[in-house]
Amino acid sequence: MRILILADIHGNWPALRTIREPHDLCVFLGDLVDYALNPGPCVDWVRQYCQIAVRGNHDHAAAQRAQTNGRSGFKYLSGLTRQITWEKLNREQLRFLGTLPTMRWATLDHRRFLFVHATPTDPLDEYVYDDPEAWARRLERVEADVICVGHTHIPFVLPVGNKLVINPGSVGQPRDGDPRLSYAIWQDGRVEIKRLEYPVEEVIAEIQASSLPDLAKRLSIEAFRTGAGVLNGVDQNEPKISSSETNSPVAVVGAANDSARG
Ligand SMILES: [Fe+2]
Repeated sequence: MRILILADIHGNWPALRTIREPHDLCVFLGDLVDYALNPGPCVDWVRQYCQIAVRGNHDHAAAQRAQTNGRSGFKYLSGLTRQITWEKLNREQLRFLGTLPTMRWATLDHRRFLFVHATPTDPLDEYVYDDPEAWARRLERVEADVICVGHTHIPFVLPVGNKLVINPGSVGQPRDGDPRLSYAIWQDGRVEIKRLEYPVEEVIAEIQASSLPDLAKRLSIEAFRTGAGVLNGVDQNEPKISSSETNSPVAVVGAANDSARG
């Protein structure tokens, strides 16, 4: 069985439509919206073609009409681009985001798969990278052979005991310094991370033509062109500081803390 594993599309239709990968099953691991400005075709595509899909923190926040008031980096861009997400999605598309499950299990290729955006212990928000000990703690009570996650925008394939954690990276906004789109293919027990160039200038033209403020345009274009994990711009006119799409009380200040904001 050949499984196409996608995550973190973030409204980037030029990236998504570039993927032409033969597959038997398509899985989406959350975050359809925010950052890039063409979420409608992305939502419709996932609805039509992905047999398994879960909710990301951005999908959750957009569907819940939650404001994000980040002062810098990706949080800042998230808050501003969400306004455009809301303008561009109809009620049915937003409802679809809100009805996605936070976790899905499936038996495929004689293995038990778990699909979740962040981690099994915190399905929407927790950031765990390719750290075997951190994953071992979170997988102690998880009865699955293969755990597929997104959220960090950084791809990895990590054996943890007799389990395997797969993060396909981000289709729409890679943050590992490589701006090419990223996804994974599962084929009969083997996993391959693939990277592809896509027409990023289409995304940038849309940003340039948008109502976003100049700082947001500059940071956004930097992120798409470089695959940067940290954006250093700070909006001096934005007094509010918020750390979480889901209104966590923990404050995040400074661009360094924004590096991992999925
Ligand atoms: Fe994300």
